[in-house]
Amino acid sequence: MFSTDENKRRAAQAALPYVRAAACVGVGTGSTVNFFIAELAAERGRIRTAVSSSNATTARLRAAGIDVVDLNDAGPIDVYVDGADEATRRRELIKGGGGALTREKIVAAAARRFVCIVDEGKMVDVLGKFPLPVEVIPMARTYVTRELGGLGGRAVERSGFVTDNGNVILDVHGLAIVDPAALERRINEIAGVVTVGLFALRPADVLLVGRAADIEIL
Ligand code: A5P
Repeated sequence: MFSTDENKRRAAQAALPYVRAAACVGVGTGSTVNFFIAELAAERGRIRTAVSSSNATTARLRAAGIDVVDLNDAGPIDVYVDGADEATRRRELIKGGGGALTREKIVAAAARRFVCIVDEGKMVDVLGKFPLPVEVIPMARTYVTRELGGLGGRAVERSGFVTDNGNVILDVHGLAIVDPAALERRINEIAGVVTVGLFALRPADVLLVGRAADIEIL
């Protein structure tokens, strides 16, 4: 199975029917979402405004002529469209490979519907082969690393990376995440953790999987 741009584009195109005309749309971060932004740009005027999950996405939306507003000023968000690093058929996700997990989780939580777009190479039976990103307040870095070690993971600080919120990312290797919701709760409890990149307590509502010949809708 290959992670191809064509499959990402196919998933991004499949998300368009979920976007109502004149809606406020939440927009995620990453290469798959960049295809979705290109689709929105091609239909400029279709959406009223967008709420962005990262500085990178904000810049890309504005360059495409799409109005971006602060979440606090947005009112209800109809739909949030974002990619993922790993996904199960139960629509649980690992996100944060691009480091935008905190804002992504906030916008997903604020949206009526979360549509996730992935290529088939992201599908797994058990989450955790992709190192689990955790955003951490800098002063808590070594403490959180020890706590994650106690949960069986090897946390490695993402070198030279600072999030849009001024924090660090620990990428946690070696976890086989058989109960994603329980692990999400457990990591959320560690002092100093801002966000864990598990999206299981609030999974995607719709998962669109771009495959070589078609789209699978979960
Ligand atoms: C950004 O922080 C991530 O959550 C992305 O949604 C995820 O890494 C998917 O990115 P790609 O679409 O580039 O694979």
